[in-house]
Amino acid sequence: MSDRSASAPNDLRAFWMPFTANRQFKKSPRMFVAARDMHYTTSDGRQVLDGTAGLWCCNAGHCRPKITEAIQKQAAELDYAPAFQMGHPKAFELASRLTEIAPEPFEHVFFTNSGSESVETALKIAIAWHRARGEGARTRLIGRERGYHGVNFGGISVGGIVANRKHFGTLLTGVDHLRHTHLPEKNAFTRGQPEHGAELADDLERLCALHDPSTIAAVIVEPMAGSTGVLLPPKGYLQRLREICDRHGILLIFDEVITGFGRLGSPFAAQHYDIMPDLITTAKGLTNGVIPMGAVLTTARIHDAFMTGPEHMIELFHGYTYSGNPIAAAAGLATLETYRDEALLTRAAELEPYWLDALFSLRGLPHVIDIRGQGLIGAVELEPIAGEPTRRAFSAFLKAYEKGILIRTTGDTIAMSPPLIISKAQIDELIGTLGDVLKTLD
Ligand SMILES: Cc1ncc(COP(=O)(O)O)c(C=O)c1O
Repeated sequence: MSDRSASAPNDLRAFWMPFTANRQFKKSPRMFVAARDMHYTTSDGRQVLDGTAGLWCCNAGHCRPKITEAIQKQAAELDYAPAFQMGHPKAFELASRLTEIAPEPFEHVFFTNSGSESVETALKIAIAWHRARGEGARTRLIGRERGYHGVNFGGISVGGIVANRKHFGTLLTGVDHLRHTHLPEKNAFTRGQPEHGAELADDLERLCALHDPSTIAAVIVEPMAGSTGVLLPPKGYLQRLREICDRHGILLIFDEVITGFGRLGSPFAAQHYDIMPDLITTAKGLTNGVIPMGAVLTTARIHDAFMTGPEHMIELFHGYTYSGNPIAAAAGLATLETYRDEALLTRAAELEPYWLDALFSLRGLPHVIDIRGQGLIGAVELEPIAGEPTRRAFSAFLKAYEKGILIRTTGDTIAMSPPLIISKAQIDELIGTLGDVLKTLD
């Protein structure tokens, strides 16, 4: 196939696109054919400024040379090694490098291929951990309304996004949910963490009273809920959740698929908020989005409970054909090097004041009912069109794309999470263009 036919396909029917309005897209396709640093190139030759780091994943920007070279070299050297009962050096090296940037108690890494798989893995480890310690009755999982934990059955069961759940049957049994923390009547237009809502963590006490803590294995939350439209944790909320988990012997899982790798100005949100969970799920920024890979980070306390029994026996009956795949591991190592060389894992903290000043300059524009942000994350919530939820924000997304910026929408919220290499001038361009778009919306 020639390059030209690859960049201008003439039949779009076969590909059933994920999380996409397929019919709308295929009438009016939006195709990226190249990318470099902060920009995508469209099939009609335009440059689009990436305001979303792809899907919250290209934290170092696009087509970064070190990562590209590492993948090329690895593909020619060792393409694949069996993931079970065999090893290869780069997976071990990447696991070690990850524990160096992770919060101190995290000493072990289980590799997966996506955020969804990391979530399933963490939930399974939590249940199996209690069983290994003689508390096999602890099987219940607690998630949170509006939480997003990927699309597999465990993830949508603990997740709280209605559209992701309602089509797919009864989901896992033995799951309950905390209330979400979105309190616009009290917290609208707050820069950083909102003042109100820490007491919502006490929902966990209610669920403990209802189910009895001896049945609860784990609570999973995103420290900052991204996909639902950027809901930052109210001040004191995560602390309270941690305390209640400790009181009742419940494991706390932070889903850091979005917040991992510098989004908030620290390598992980656990460090940023200074709250230590028992398990951390990651993916996305782990390989700069370039090759699918995820990971679950655990402490020695979790890991060591499995390291019993005869030494020739498998300790955890779980894993994927591509866990720690050599090319993904090479991409991960080169990504971590790029983050280190360019100090990207702390760059969001430096840029945060400038970013939030720019973001909050949109206050007062038509339809804007809330603005939220922290690190290099920002959300602008729009008043929905009566009877037509999501239409206004989707229209903003399309207009923004035409004007040369990539944003994301969820419901009627516009979310932004640019690559951590963004310059101040590019922040001005991104927010300035979004402001122009907002002025034109019906
Ligand atoms: C918090 C969180 N968990 C899990 C996932 C799922 O990741 P993936 O799409 O790689 O399966 C996402 C994706 O956006 C996410 O934001």
